[in-house]
Amino acid sequence: MTVSFTPNLLGPRIDDRLIGFLDEWQAPVSDPDVVAAYRLLVEFILGGGKRIRPQLCYWGWRGAGGDDCDEIISAAAALELCHAGLLIHDDIMDGSDLRRGQATVHRSLARLHSGPGAEAFGRAGGILLGTLSLAWSDTLLSSCGVEPVRLRAAHHLFDTMRTEVISGQYLDILAQLRAGVSVEQALTTIRYKTAKYTVERPLQIGGALAGTEAGLLRAYSEFGVPLGEAFQLRDDVLGMFGSSGETGKSALDDLREGKQTVLYAHAVQRATPAQLAYLRAWHGNPDLTEEHAAEVCQIMTDTGALAEVESMIDDRVRTAVRVLDATAIEAEARVALTVLAAELAHRDS
Ligand code: IPE
Ligand code: IPE
Ligand code: MG
Ligand code: MG
Repeated sequence: MTVSFTPNLLGPRIDDRLIGFLDEWQAPVSDPDVVAAYRLLVEFILGGGKRIRPQLCYWGWRGAGGDDCDEIISAAAALELCHAGLLIHDDIMDGSDLRRGQATVHRSLARLHSGPGAEAFGRAGGILLGTLSLAWSDTLLSSCGVEPVRLRAAHHLFDTMRTEVISGQYLDILAQLRAGVSVEQALTTIRYKTAKYTVERPLQIGGALAGTEAGLLRAYSEFGVPLGEAFQLRDDVLGMFGSSGETGKSALDDLREGKQTVLYAHAVQRATPAQLAYLRAWHGNPDLTEEHAAEVCQIMTDTGALAEVESMIDDRVRTAVRVLDATAIEAEARVALTVLAAELAHRDS
């Protein structure tokens, strides 16, 4: 079963706020190549994405009793700028060519310039544009207009979130070097590289901006971490079994780069000697073809690794929904978060 993202009015409001912000921060120099790079960044930020983190930040605020207002839309939009910066850097680190169905930012930058230095230029330019988007997220959050004491509390969570996601991304690149990553290690990585910055912290930032007490922040964490893990476990399943038409990312990326996912760790644990030899030969091998990928998928299925990850996703969503059901939270937010939980775990893109 897959669940499509329900159309809602939040996405366009977040985008309008982003458009306004990006309009205020145009390139400070008139060099046409700098202007072209800024244009690429703006197109990337506005050109797609499910806007999950802004939605969770908004509902974290509403759940804590905050009224619908422009201030929370600005704060929520700030999280999207942070996410965009992380994605740009992630695609450089992972050597990915496709994101949101388009060339990644570093690939697009490389194409703007010809010659032997173009690839290195694209990566260097991508580091700069990603950093700019991350810096802008701070600018937008700091100027969202929420009362200073609440903003300070939320900003502390935002700082924590950035530290966590960078540590998680570091664990992820370390895992590429460490053969034989366990399920437990892979789970720690996804908790830090994804779960916290995608679900837990956006909800808590919204809650803190609304001035909520520690009890609800704790509930947001107990809801957000398992749901965020389910989100990344789904991402890993889509990375193996989804098409690039659905995910907007290259279908062979995770395998060619040898990503040490929970799914892969389960397959290694359960494989027969022959299956293990096949996995070791092709996981992380840049020469991997569609045929090899199909065989690896078959091994993931035959070993029961896929079924195990599906059951881990279900367990985590159940836990998250149970926490939400037991939490005193504003009614409209409860409904929205219940719908989002299903969408995050069972999406097809
Ligand atoms: C992609 O996040 C990065 C992960 C943490 C898996 P999303 O799936 O939210 O990406 P967009 O914003 O919708 O493109
Ligand atoms: C992305 O992780 C996580 C962050 C951007 C912090 P992945 O590398 O696993 O995700 P995709 O597949 O590129 O979106
Ligand atoms: Mg990646
Ligand atoms: Mg990555």
